[in-house]
Amino acid sequence: MKARKIVDEMDSYVPGRSQDEIAEEFNLNKDEIIKLGSNENPWGPSPKAMEAIKKEISSINRYPESQLKELVAEIAKYSSVEDNQVIIGGDGADEIIDVLAKTFIDEGDEFIVPLPSYMYYEYLLQQYGAHPVYAKWDLDKNELDVESIFDSITDRTKMIFLCSPNNPTGTLIEKEVLADIAEKNPEILIVIDEAYFEYSEVTNKDLINEYDNIFIIRTMSKVLGLAGMRIGYGLACAEIIEYMHRIKPVFSLTRLSFAAALNTFRDEEYIKESIKKGIESRQYLYEELSKIDSLNVFPSKSNFMLIGVKDTGFTASELALELMKKGIIVRDCTSFKGLDEYWIRISICTLDEDKKFIEIIKEVLS
Ligand SMILES: Cc1ncc(COP(=O)(O)O)c(C=O)c1O
Repeated sequence: MKARKIVDEMDSYVPGRSQDEIAEEFNLNKDEIIKLGSNENPWGPSPKAMEAIKKEISSINRYPESQLKELVAEIAKYSSVEDNQVIIGGDGADEIIDVLAKTFIDEGDEFIVPLPSYMYYEYLLQQYGAHPVYAKWDLDKNELDVESIFDSITDRTKMIFLCSPNNPTGTLIEKEVLADIAEKNPEILIVIDEAYFEYSEVTNKDLINEYDNIFIIRTMSKVLGLAGMRIGYGLACAEIIEYMHRIKPVFSLTRLSFAAALNTFRDEEYIKESIKKGIESRQYLYEELSKIDSLNVFPSKSNFMLIGVKDTGFTASELALELMKKGIIVRDCTSFKGLDEYWIRISICTLDEDKKFIEIIKEVLS
């Protein structure tokens, strides 16, 4: 049985590797593995979220809510927007991207993504028959090449994905640039991915009140510590949100995810601490890694940083393998379009783990 032509021709997405996989492959103790590969919150989830999950567990024989009103209100409060400007996704921000594609993409449409950036946009949108057009990040200046966005626009462009801070470069895009692109292209949806905005302390969410062609993607997988519960959300004008609600999977958010999400947003102290510790770890890692001459470390406004490894004598996959043998998981960025085979990305960790990582990478490079 042959699959649809698009599926037949597609490559699978390459996600970061899990502790279980690495423990098994290299015969390591799972608990001693340091995971710097997937930009998660290394300090664990909010204790209030864990408590709420325990309480909710006896109700999992019941379907979850479909309207999610209480959580919508909590997200609207956290984001300072109206309730009707919020949509929630139960497979994380990735579900939000999927629903965006289902709502707005017709076969043959084009979307623009500057490379390198988050690869899942392309992976999802192609499934709906859309074609990627690549703009670029200027890696020498470590900023978006804005002209390359304007140059990529055609009358078939339906969406432009702009990730800020960008994964994997860690760079922000200036609000004026985002507003300018939206202003000049009212027929194109400008999708601003703010998965990591808390670490940059910058948001563009106020633009949704000025432009009805701006969509903000957010996630609970990063600073909010719920990657394993798969919760994302989107912010946009009420019209966009209403269209998306028509086709969003009705019960995609489980009861446990709902309880965890609600109680994380209500745990302001946890959120504040997670941001503070994340920024401290980032500074520490940046300073220590910058002392290693053979590494080209990019400053970051996020919870990860991009590192060029060309001068180490290793390719990214060779270096990732050497680190893995010693229990460290980093992201080999070879599968990111727009990067060659000499880039890795590392996430923030607890300070103890950061120190151990620095020790081990020095050992591997010496
Ligand atoms: C830029 C960006 N957007 C979206 C996502 C997806 O997040 P989620 O875990 O909510 O699906 C990620 C995950 O790493 C990401 O890096």
